Amino acid sequence: MDKRFERIKASALQERVVSAEEAASWIQDGMTLGLSGFTQAGDAKAVPLALAKRAEFEKFKVNVYTGASLGSNIDTVFAQTGIVKKRLPFQSDPVMRRKINEGEILYTDHHLSHTAEWIRDGVITPIDYAIIEAISITKDGMIIPTTSVGNSAIFAQYAKNVIVEINTEQPERLYRIHDIYDTGTHEGRNPIPLSHVADRIGTTGIPVDMEKIKGIVFTDQVDSPSTIVPPDSETEAIASHLLELLRSEIRAGRLTEKLAPIQSGVGSVANSALRGLIGSEFHDLEMYSEVLQDAVFDLIDADVLRFASGSAITLSKEKMAQVYSDFRKYEDKIILRPQEITNHPGLIRRLGLIAVNTALEFDIYGNVNSTHVSGTKMMNGIGGSGDFARNSRLSIFVSKSTAKGGNISSVVPFVTHVDHTEHDVDVLITEHGYADLRGLAPRERAGLIIENCADPAYRDQLRNYYEEALTRGGQTPHVLEKAFSWHQRLAETGSMLEK
Ligand code: COA
Repeated sequence: MDKRFERIKASALQERVVSAEEAASWIQDGMTLGLSGFTQAGDAKAVPLALAKRAEFEKFKVNVYTGASLGSNIDTVFAQTGIVKKRLPFQSDPVMRRKINEGEILYTDHHLSHTAEWIRDGVITPIDYAIIEAISITKDGMIIPTTSVGNSAIFAQYAKNVIVEINTEQPERLYRIHDIYDTGTHEGRNPIPLSHVADRIGTTGIPVDMEKIKGIVFTDQVDSPSTIVPPDSETEAIASHLLELLRSEIRAGRLTEKLAPIQSGVGSVANSALRGLIGSEFHDLEMYSEVLQDAVFDLIDADVLRFASGSAITLSKEKMAQVYSDFRKYEDKIILRPQEITNHPGLIRRLGLIAVNTALEFDIYGNVNSTHVSGTKMMNGIGGSGDFARNSRLSIFVSKSTAKGGNISSVVPFVTHVDHTEHDVDVLITEHGYADLRGLAPRERAGLIIENCADPAYRDQLRNYYEEALTRGGQTPHVLEKAFSWHQRLAETGSMLEK
């Protein structure tokens, strides 16, 4: 017998194996799909790619829900073939980004903890097909996910039909690292029984009504590797300011060397900031985060990190080869959970997280823009940064002080889009230093942010703006007609710098 069938332990389901093309043919114009996949990990690959192929000779559109961004070129070909009507809740693909900004694809950018609630409450269009990548299906029909959990459980539970993609290249050793907990509906909901990062509170797979499994497809395509840029002198400086901040928290008696569970955002800057903990005095650390990037495994190898809870494992090519060839070393130090649990506001507050996320730009009072370039063009999405920033014990935002060769200052008079208000931002860090905003009034914040975080080339311009704003008065002084003049200058001259 074909060995692949051994992965379908519920023998009644074995006869539902079909080709990716056949499964894709069931999807009709106007349908809504819930695809597994979170930050390029564990995405359903074969059926979505077969669906995109259909667009070569057929015109149709579907709504696409996922955990977060997809890998395997799926968002790229979906965008190129024009088959997406609406996309949610997060993407980071250049082609899809362009189509969103051209208005061709509708994009609902929202907190990653909210998708599951919207599906339960019937707020968004219901899912016709959930397509979930799995290592295997158990005897009782539980779907064992691969390298991510994301929204897969809620998709499988609420979709009218389920297609399972069994990926034989995903390591079987991943079995038992998942912890699937369902909060249930609002009525009669109980407190979530999770008090420690490593607590197991759910099942090892996604329970699903076997009748809904319409088809099973075999695939062997590995996850796309991440393209994390290695640390540079600026991200190393950011990491060292983060350590300085943590040390000052210890001196103040608010933390010990074991710190508090850490959440770290997506991208190169957050990854580098986390790597900075290697070789420090901190030990026995824990993470309660969303994406487990390369740095998490480096920290485990360096005996700095004791345990990591997340929703996906997203690694570079080299790290992927190393981690999966020796997964035994990590399997009892890692848990993957649904994103509504990793990002649950109540749990984030209960565990007292230190949250480190990345800003595109922030203003002199501490408002943060993480999503919209110059206030209008979507970059990726808010992801989980808002879930964590609002509810963590210590909410930190990191950013390089400039972008595009110094033509853009990340510290501006007024952000052109607000993802995180001044009320959700405790500390700002750039390569020049940090500004601890806790307990400070707006007039105390401005000077600190300008002097500690802004690039020296922009400090005089910021000082001048703030001094003029002070002449107008107010709790949060501004010169409204000049508040966006920096972005205007950038559009007109290619630089925010005054000539
Ligand atoms: N204006 C325009 N472009 C800017 C900018 C600004 N103020 N600041 C940064 N950029 C550009 C950079 O030049 C870079 O462009 P490139 O890809 O062409 O080189 C790109 O944005 C990424 O910036 P970088 O400094 O390399 O940071 P990053 O890779 O760490 O990404 C975010 C930063 C904000 C885009 C990313 O962290 C993100 O999408 N965050 C929102 C979601 C989130 O925080 N999720 C975490 C929850 S777990």
